[in-house]
Amino acid sequence: MIECKNLVKVYKNGDVETTALKGVSFKIEKGEFVSIIGPSGSGKSTLMHILGALDTPTSGEYFLDGHEVSKLSDDELSEMRRNKIGFVFQAFNLLPRATVLRNVMLPLLFTDIPMKEREARAREALKNSSLDESKFYNHSNQLSGGQIQRVAIARALINDPAIILADEPTGNLDTKTSHIVMEAFQELHKRGHTIVLITHEPEIAEYAERIISVRDGVIEKDVKNNNYKYGARSN
Ligand SMILES: Nc1ncnc2c1ncn2[C@@H]1O[C@H](COP(=O)(O)OP(=O)(O)OP(=O)(O)O)[C@@H](O)[C@H]1O
Ligand SMILES: [Mg+2]
Repeated sequence: MIECKNLVKVYKNGDVETTALKGVSFKIEKGEFVSIIGPSGSGKSTLMHILGALDTPTSGEYFLDGHEVSKLSDDELSEMRRNKIGFVFQAFNLLPRATVLRNVMLPLLFTDIPMKEREARAREALKNSSLDESKFYNHSNQLSGGQIQRVAIARALINDPAIILADEPTGNLDTKTSHIVMEAFQELHKRGHTIVLITHEPEIAEYAERIISVRDGVIEKDVKNNNYKYGARSN
């Protein structure tokens, strides 16, 4: 499903070069739930932008669903982002004065899917991200942090993406709410979604079945999470 071969990313700002990734290789199979953990500045978001086809590596190859992403045209790239990838970011990026349902339908705006079907899909996605139906007509500024994050997850699900990428989805949440959101991700995993989740918190990483540790732009460890058990954490 995902294959990275020797990814290198060098940022250039004037005379200053920063090598954010120094040769990163791994594979992720369909249906896996992987967390990528590492300290601030280790290259996590850089990697995520490459995985999400938002940026290209300086060298190395990245295959998503059999396509080498750096060989795609701009049109093919945006098509790929629209149809194959669901993003959940730390900053929620919801429209504050639109209802929950409208926010979730947003990615379908420029499609020819009929309104009725858009709404049906949004309801389904919200159900799958465990948001209570009583909140569907709230504006997003009338929700708690955890509820907002579940709306963001639903929005990422609306295209039924092959892969869900989440960059610090619990970064702005208190501990209890973080765990609730992580349980929503575990639910999605159980339904067969492929999930790659970035965090710098070991406790959050433990929700995944596999943990890749990044440090200074290289993979330090890539291990099966022996503590993984669906629904093991309920605090
Ligand atoms: N656009 C950019 N231009 C120059 N340097 C950058 C750019 N983006 C990131 N970097 C540098 O690349 C390195 C990796 O950054 P990255 O954002 O991938 O880290 P991260 O692991 O996501 O950190 P955090 O946990 O703080 O979000 C850092 O040294 C950062 O300063
Ligand atoms: Mg980051």
